[in-house]
Amino acid sequence: MIDSKPTTDGQARPTAQTPAATQMRAIVQDIYGEPDAVLRPQDIAKPVVKDGEVLVRVHAASVHVGDVILLRGLPYFLRMATGLRKPKHRVPGTDVAGTVEAVGKDVTQLRLGDEVFGWCVGAFAEYACAGADHFVPKPANLTFEQAAAVGVSASTALQLLRDQGKVQPGQKVLINGASGGVGTFAVQIAKAFGAEVTAVCSTRNVDMIRSIGADHVIDYTKEDFTQSKERYDFILDNVGNHSLSATRHALTPPGSCSPTAVVMRTVAGSAPWGASSRCSCPRCSRVSNCARPSSFRTERTWSS
Ligand SMILES: NC(=O)c1ccc[n+]([C@@H]2O[C@H](COP(=O)([O-])OP(=O)(O)OC[C@H]3O[C@@H](n4cnc5c(N)ncnc54)[C@H](OP(=O)(O)O)[C@@H]3O)[C@@H](O)[C@H]2O)c1
Repeated sequence: MIDSKPTTDGQARPTAQTPAATQMRAIVQDIYGEPDAVLRPQDIAKPVVKDGEVLVRVHAASVHVGDVILLRGLPYFLRMATGLRKPKHRVPGTDVAGTVEAVGKDVTQLRLGDEVFGWCVGAFAEYACAGADHFVPKPANLTFEQAAAVGVSASTALQLLRDQGKVQPGQKVLINGASGGVGTFAVQIAKAFGAEVTAVCSTRNVDMIRSIGADHVIDYTKEDFTQSKERYDFILDNVGNHSLSATRHALTPPGSCSPTAVVMRTVAGSAPWGASSRCSCPRCSRVSNCARPSSFRTERTWSS
């Protein structure tokens, strides 16, 4: 930790500080189970930034499906990564938004007082600490609450559509499970990429999905997209409720379309069929088979 750093205005500005308080209030979890049974508030040690880290005063934190999986420790095999008998990390929570409270000496891109959002281990606390590259500046037109809801779900959708699917303008993209955490971001990102988006959700979410830009909406309680004659260049499957062969029938045949038709399936856990797996955890998106607690596996289950 260092005391000051030169700025463009020539003034010394503190870049890190030793906070007066060494304790903070946090939600802690010592065993796996249901939220009411295992979560409780407690005063614990405030995190201290290391050289490349940022300490954030938490204004908002959100809950996504991965937090629920970590809370319950289910499915069991995930405990190999998250802690066999009890959670490795006492403070749950991943997606976060807040104000930079302190920075390590190697941090150059963020300064005290910056409003940021991103991800960490232990978001459900007054303060959270993580590597500086886990945070980006919060756009002024987003509230802390809105920014805290972006994190893992949005980055998963972005990685799948942009990096894995390489979605191009004019492509037909289907999002199965479009009304969920990943799906709502996926619909909007695919539209921003210029795709023609078909979204699959339940009756109660049809209007909401239309409102965020889907060109076509399929209500899965009335229609099965795998039985339709429509074909898609890319399917982002957040549900996995159809066999791969059934899903394959909904893809453009190889060669009939210049882009490669592909289905991506997001699943919490490894691919049971042994397909190549790639971690979509924002902290190590380039690493295969990441075993970090907040990681999800994103499987490229089939491509043609
Ligand atoms: N969220 C993340 O950050 C993240 C990251 C990596 C991987 N994953 C994985 O990605 C998957 C989806 O995550 P999520 O956060 O989007 O989950 P979620 O918020 O629970 O959303 C799941 C969606 O699936 C829809 N659904 C349920 N049954 C369906 C059916 N038969 N046909 C079509 N849609 C159906 C639901 O729509 P209705 O409400 O309209 O029924 C719901 O909105 C999970 O397997 C998760 O483990 C999530």
